[in-house]
Parts: sequence; structure tokens; C-alpha cells
Amino acid sequence: MGKHTLKTNITSLKGDIIVPGDKSISHRSVMFGAVAEGVTTVTGFLMGEDCLSTVSCFRQLGVEIEETADQMVIHGKGWDGLVEPKEVLNVGNSGTTIRLLMGILAGRPFHTTLIGDESIGKRPMTRVTKPLSSMGAKIEGRQFGEYTPLSIRGGGISGIEYASPVASAQVKSAILLAGLQADGITTVVEPEKSRDHTERMIRQFSGTVEENGLSVSVRGGQVLKGTNIKVPGDISSAAFFLVAGAIVPNSCITLKNVGLNPTRTGIIDVMLEMGADMTIEPLVAEQTEPVGDITIRTSHLKGTTIGGDLIPRLIDEIPIIALLATQAEGETVIRDAQELKVKETNRIDTVVQELSKLGADITATDDGMIIKGKNKLAGGVVSSHGDHRIGMMLAVAALICKQDVSLEQKEAISVSYPQFFTDLEKLM
Ligand code: S3P
Repeated sequence: MGKHTLKTNITSLKGDIIVPGDKSISHRSVMFGAVAEGVTTVTGFLMGEDCLSTVSCFRQLGVEIEETADQMVIHGKGWDGLVEPKEVLNVGNSGTTIRLLMGILAGRPFHTTLIGDESIGKRPMTRVTKPLSSMGAKIEGRQFGEYTPLSIRGGGISGIEYASPVASAQVKSAILLAGLQADGITTVVEPEKSRDHTERMIRQFSGTVEENGLSVSVRGGQVLKGTNIKVPGDISSAAFFLVAGAIVPNSCITLKNVGLNPTRTGIIDVMLEMGADMTIEPLVAEQTEPVGDITIRTSHLKGTTIGGDLIPRLIDEIPIIALLATQAEGETVIRDAQELKVKETNRIDTVVQELSKLGADITATDDGMIIKGKNKLAGGVVSSHGDHRIGMMLAVAALICKQDVSLEQKEAISVSYPQFFTDLEKLM
């Protein structure tokens, strides 16, 4: 866990990057593959620590998952084929793993205990344990089901109509995964639309789901069928290079085969609004998720305001957008983003604290932050706080720092992007 010296004072970034597979879609491909009948193959699976946590949990639930040179092959067991695990399941750092897995386990008539790392132990779980308990699952956890360790005994569940207080795809997906196994119809209504990969994947696995504005419904008792999945590049990983290309002088970077699902493309809308020199070439989508190539060049940027229903479309990109805003003329206001407080770290605190160390003019607010640009960044000792996206944001910030920057807890980056530094160096 030593300090890692980051590259600073970079004068140009040029070239192409094939960003790694989408994290949200990779998790879901294994989960759906496991509970479907027949074989599922996944190309472009993200070999990051989070998705590997999902793989190891499903192996413990009795599912055979093979890793070939370029594919994950999942031998689906059907819902009833999952078995009671002999040991505790450890989800590591992954919120998606624990919350979606709870939805699957809510319908399974056996006992499971779930734990994770220190960060997972601080993240709120009643957002899923409450609705799943009201469907009939028996769930216990520290502080009345709010924190891990959590234990669950599922089975015999009934559909609910649930108005979620937060726009969260993890909450929505957990309830839908339970709903697919419940008696009757299950409906989730969100305050704003969150990412819809689960809805798309239900259809890809031959299931049915109804969407009506902010409401999503599934019928219980659905049998899913294995399929072949191609995982597009993760726009949340591409985001670090989109910002790097925009703020480092003399740059031109093309990001290939990036997922362009409209529930995820908030960062593109914001960057264009801020004046980014960006072109998008949509590719013919082979599957249910749209994809394209994105080219970004060094840009003259202006501040903007980000809030409302845009927030769920870019929630994971706010750390890197905050850095972008330090290099834009004028003020950028980010609001309605309270959810940042319950991510891998409290990202309002960690972003403001770490960018301030580098010399940014950034202030925390109760639901976001205010950034004043344009601001020369200096240097210093910074930390990822064990949060992958904070680590990558700081590595991109260092590129435009005049003085030395060292990063503590760099290893967190492997959670979503093990090849990050190799890809970054290719562009230098
Ligand atoms: C995710 C949903 C989002 C996002 C997370 C991945 C998913 O979380 O921040 O990185 O795969 O469903 P919330 O559902 O908590 O907003």
C-alpha cells in the first residue's frame, strides 16, 4: 500500500483506447447466466475485482463458471438449481454484487450470509432489505438490516408495488430479480430513471418486463434462457480519458466501442454543454445496448449547472466531472447528488478534500459541490481513500499538475479498471 508517483506535466495525449467491459453489464451477465437455464457465454467481460467477486459468489452457490481465453462461460442452473452455500459469501468492495444478489436470494429457500470489505460495511442496505422483507424474505443484519453482515433466508415471496425513495438501479434491480421469482406482479416506481441494464437483460434472457415512464413491472414465475452476451466498453471507465483528452494540451483520443445507453450518457451531454470538442460515431448495435466510438480533443470549456434527473445518468462520473470543472471558465454547480455520500466513499468529501490538496477551488455543499475555474493545479500527496474512481480521477488530475503528485492506495483502481495505467501510458 505504498505511495505511487504519478506522471505530471504531460504535453499531449494521442491514440486509441479500447476501454474494458461495462461493470454493470458484466455483473448482470453472470447473475442472469447463473439463474437461466442452459449455457450463457459472455465476451468482453470486465475482469475487475468487483465482477470477480460476483463470479466467486455464484461459484459458491453451485454454479459452474469457466474462464476461457476470451469468454466467461456460465452453466446456468435455473432458479431452483442454486444451492445453499457452505461458507459466508464475500462481495469485496461491490455494492452491485451484494444488492442484486440479495434480490436473487430473496426467492431462494435457503440460508446465506453476506459480508464485504470495510467500505461495504458502511453502505446502506435497508434500501433493499426493507422492500425484499416486505415481499416475504427473512433478512437480518447489523443495525436492523442496514449494514453487513447480512443473513437471508428467501422463498415463498409475493409481488409488491414499491415506490423507491431513491433513483437507484441497484434497488430497482434487486426488487425485479426477486419479482421474477415471486407470486403475482412486482412493480418498482422511481423518482428519476436509473440505468436500465436489468430491464434490457431480462428481455435478452427471453423474459418479459413492462416499462411505463418511471414504472417497471415484472410477472413472477419466469423461466430465463441462457444466451450469448457481448459486453460493450464501460462509459464510466471511458470518462477518465474523455476528461484527460479535454484538459491535457494538444490531445486527441478515440475511445472505441463504448456503451452509449441513454441512461448512462449524462457525461457526454454535460461535456458538450461545457463546450467539449467531441465527436461520436454510433456503431450498428449488435445487441440491446447501443455502442459507438467517441473522439475527444483538447477543449475550451465553460462552467455549467448539473442537477435533477441528469444526476442518475452520470452519478459515477461526478468525481471526474469535478476535475473537468476546475479547467472550465467560471462556476460549475453540482446539486441533487446526495447519493454521492453513500458510494464506495463519501464522494462529496473525498473529491473536495483531494482536489483541494492539488490547489482546486472547490467547496462541498449538502447535496454536491461548487467548483470555480479555471485553476492551475500544483501538486502534492493525495489518496484514493480505497475508492477506484477517486484514484483514477487523481491520476488524470496529475497529468496537468506542474509539481510532483503521489497517490496513496493506488491498488483500489483494480476494482473496475486493472489496465488503467497501461492504457494511460499508451497515450503519452
Ligand atoms: C450500479 C448502479 C449505481 C452505480 C453503481 C452501479 C448498477 O448505483 O453507482 O456503480 O450496476 O446497478 P445505485 O443503484 O446505488 O445508484
